[in-house]
Amino acid sequence: MKPNLLITGASGFIGSHLIEEALTQDYHVFAAIRKSSQLIVPNHTDIQIIYLDYSQTELLASQLVNLKSEFGRFEYVIHNAGITRANNVEDFNEVNNKLPQRLVQALIIAENIPDKFVLVSSMAAFGPGDKKSKKPISVTQTMNPISSYGESKKAVSTYFKTKCTIPYSIVYPTAVYGPKDKDFIEFVRLINKGVEPYLGLYRQLLSMVHVSDLSYSIVGLLRKGRSGEQYIVSDNKNYDKKELGFIVKNILKKKTLKLFIPVTPVLWIAAFIEFLYKIFAPQKTPLLTKEKINEISAANWSCDANDIWNVLGTVPKYDLQSGMEQTIGWYKSNGLL
Ligand SMILES: NC(=O)c1ccc[n+]([C@@H]2O[C@H](COP(=O)([O-])OP(=O)(O)OC[C@H]3O[C@@H](n4cnc5c(N)ncnc54)[C@H](OP(=O)(O)O)[C@@H]3O)[C@@H](O)[C@H]2O)c1
Repeated sequence: MKPNLLITGASGFIGSHLIEEALTQDYHVFAAIRKSSQLIVPNHTDIQIIYLDYSQTELLASQLVNLKSEFGRFEYVIHNAGITRANNVEDFNEVNNKLPQRLVQALIIAENIPDKFVLVSSMAAFGPGDKKSKKPISVTQTMNPISSYGESKKAVSTYFKTKCTIPYSIVYPTAVYGPKDKDFIEFVRLINKGVEPYLGLYRQLLSMVHVSDLSYSIVGLLRKGRSGEQYIVSDNKNYDKKELGFIVKNILKKKTLKLFIPVTPVLWIAAFIEFLYKIFAPQKTPLLTKEKINEISAANWSCDANDIWNVLGTVPKYDLQSGMEQTIGWYKSNGLL
């Protein structure tokens, strides 16, 4: 019998790759989505699409009880649902912090303690590394997020570390790219048009991970590592920001005009855009916010991901060069470039 694996946020970028990886690693996947989700899931006998309502713990628990009596317990859970953009601190806190807490409590009430619950957090929970020493971010350092997003991910980590009574691991992915992503493609499109934009006039260190490697590591962790362990996930290399542009333009065979944009005027523009949204479109979230600009322009996002690859006993399949080749190939074959 294949073990039952519940994956939340199954309709998203990372969620869709988690499903593929879980099928490869022989799980029976329960893809949890919302009624409003636009899910593209392969038609597969080992995928069960379920609709979970996370709004109240008791309601969620009764849904889990029903699922358990129909399909048996969830042996494993990957909680991946989350938001990276929101209009206010409360929304971040509700989805990224309170919702996973309700899921844990509901599993306990439903007497469905999984063998492992993997929480997908973000390196934003730690905040950027020291800009002088350029020391890579590691799970042993104090969490010092610089955004409401990072604060909400820190809060849920604190809950797990201090109150969670079920077996768990937390993963902190760095910036994720790959087929179906919605952020890096914009940078690639600009380079494709001959513009190579850089935010900030200073040296910036980045870390990245291809979504296939991230998915492999998250699914792999279900049966590896001890409960309570935390892992930063990257391709285990750190890059200067200009390497990303260099790699992308070489793959696209484009000549580009490099644009180095100082951060301060971009912060002013973002503040103005946020002001306009508050007045004219309060329900919507602008792509550029002051917090996002501060976060993406931080000088040191290098990290130490040795632990995850050691515990999995392997190395990442992709570095930035091979990962971008694969991703750009996918963008092209899907008519996105
Ligand atoms: N992408 C990155 O670079 C990155 C880096 C580090 C960490 N992460 C983390 O990875 C996770 C997945 O991110 P992603 O990039 O795949 O984002 P995504 O494409 O926006 O997917 C987010 C998923 O979460 C679900 N979700 C959002 N709000 C929800 C709510 N209130 N109730 C239930 N489900 C909800 C979405 O469902 P709908 O389809 O119904 O909206 C979607 O399935 C998040 O926890 C994020 O913080 C992402």
